[in-house]
Amino acid sequence: MRTAIILAAGQGTRMKSAMPKVMHRIAGRPMIRHLIAAGEPVFDRVIVVVGPGMPELEKAVAPHATVVQAERLGTGHAARMAAPLLDGFSGDVAVLYGDNPLITTATLERLVQGRASAGLALLAMRPADPAKYGRVVQGGSGAVERIVEWADASEAERAIGLCNAGVVCAAWADLSRWLAGLRNDNRQSEFYLTDVVAAAHAEGRRAVAVEAPEAELRGINSRVELAAAEAEVQSRLRAAAMLGGATLVQPESVTLSFDTKLGQDVVVDPHVVFAPGVTVEDDVAIRAFSHLEQCVVRRGAIIGPYARLRPGADVGEGAHVGNFVELKAAHLGAGAKANHLTYLGDVTVGAGANIGAGTITCNYDGVNKHRTEIGAGAFIGSDTALVAPVRVGARAVTAAGSVITEDVPDDALAIARGRQANKPGRGAKGKT
Ligand code: UD1
Ligand code: MG
Repeated sequence: MRTAIILAAGQGTRMKSAMPKVMHRIAGRPMIRHLIAAGEPVFDRVIVVVGPGMPELEKAVAPHATVVQAERLGTGHAARMAAPLLDGFSGDVAVLYGDNPLITTATLERLVQGRASAGLALLAMRPADPAKYGRVVQGGSGAVERIVEWADASEAERAIGLCNAGVVCAAWADLSRWLAGLRNDNRQSEFYLTDVVAAAHAEGRRAVAVEAPEAELRGINSRVELAAAEAEVQSRLRAAAMLGGATLVQPESVTLSFDTKLGQDVVVDPHVVFAPGVTVEDDVAIRAFSHLEQCVVRRGAIIGPYARLRPGADVGEGAHVGNFVELKAAHLGAGAKANHLTYLGDVTVGAGANIGAGTITCNYDGVNKHRTEIGAGAFIGSDTALVAPVRVGARAVTAAGSVITEDVPDDALAIARGRQANKPGRGAKGKT
């Protein structure tokens, strides 16, 4: 049995935000959820240490347990907060930092394997700029003796290139004892989690550093670092999408979410945004500057350029959604077309129906939302306003410029517009 304790009690002052740091999003979900997702295959249990008054964080990590660190007395103190939940636990515990969300499952697996052959294992990296990371001090044999925080380090120690990434793993029976013995007689008067390494060494236990790339172990303390983490995750997601058989014509211009699903032979043109909850089936073309969120695009459909698919859009096989068309809770049947300048909200469109340019479903009366139904093979003339609730029958036609307030039977033609009157001689010349 293995447990992960994730420290996330800090507000993250350098983010300059009203929101807890770990709630800031990367690829469409809070950074702490990335870390939890990486840890779930490795750990049987996750406990998150939160600060006081962070209900939204507690909700974001559910169903995992949370404990509150009332006073921010350091990372070692924060880890101790989980002790009551681990009373009598005989397995291994890893302590992770919530602001270190890019760690992969593979690296966490290497960490727990490293711990199997040592009293304690920690994750370390050799960043291009070691900056203010804690430094990993090794003895002659290469074994780790202690970690020295930047604030407490001598010049010689600051010259060490191996940095602490902030993840340690040990048997809880040992770790709990080392945590209980921590002292705060250092430059920051904090209980440092990192001091458990020296405690292990003092007991003659071997500590090993498991190294991983900086790109994975970088911490996030500011919005500049948040953007760097976003870039890292985006490049991972794009690579996975391409390796899965989707073409991204200009990958770096496409924004994906953690859960975007792109089928085989999907072609995504430049500058497309996939917000969370999008599934795109095989052979779909998504043209430039389209925005998709919580929607499904079925096989062979063509989206965009400049299309907006909002939550609940379901575009049927081979359907077309063209430029400046917005869909919300809209089901388009197979082969249906809405190619230009249209709003379709709370609507079912039958297979093969054609929605003319400028069609609007008037779905909201200021108080309630109402549905529109358009039958299979119907032809909605340009600039039709469909005042919901309303139904246009199968194969029915609405004349251009109509305001449809009553149901149209199957196969009927509905004309609902002012009649044209021609006034001879009253044209431009007639006015002068
Ligand atoms: C920590 C490490 C440092 C390492 C670096 C890697 C310590 C003492 N230092 O420094 O060696 O190189 O991470 O990124 O551990 N937290 C709490 N309660 C507290 C203090 C912190 O929950 O009382 C949480 C924070 O919310 C954060 C994490 O612990 O998620 C790390 O704290 P932070 O202040 O960012 O530590 P660093 O200074 O980055
Ligand atoms: Mg940090």
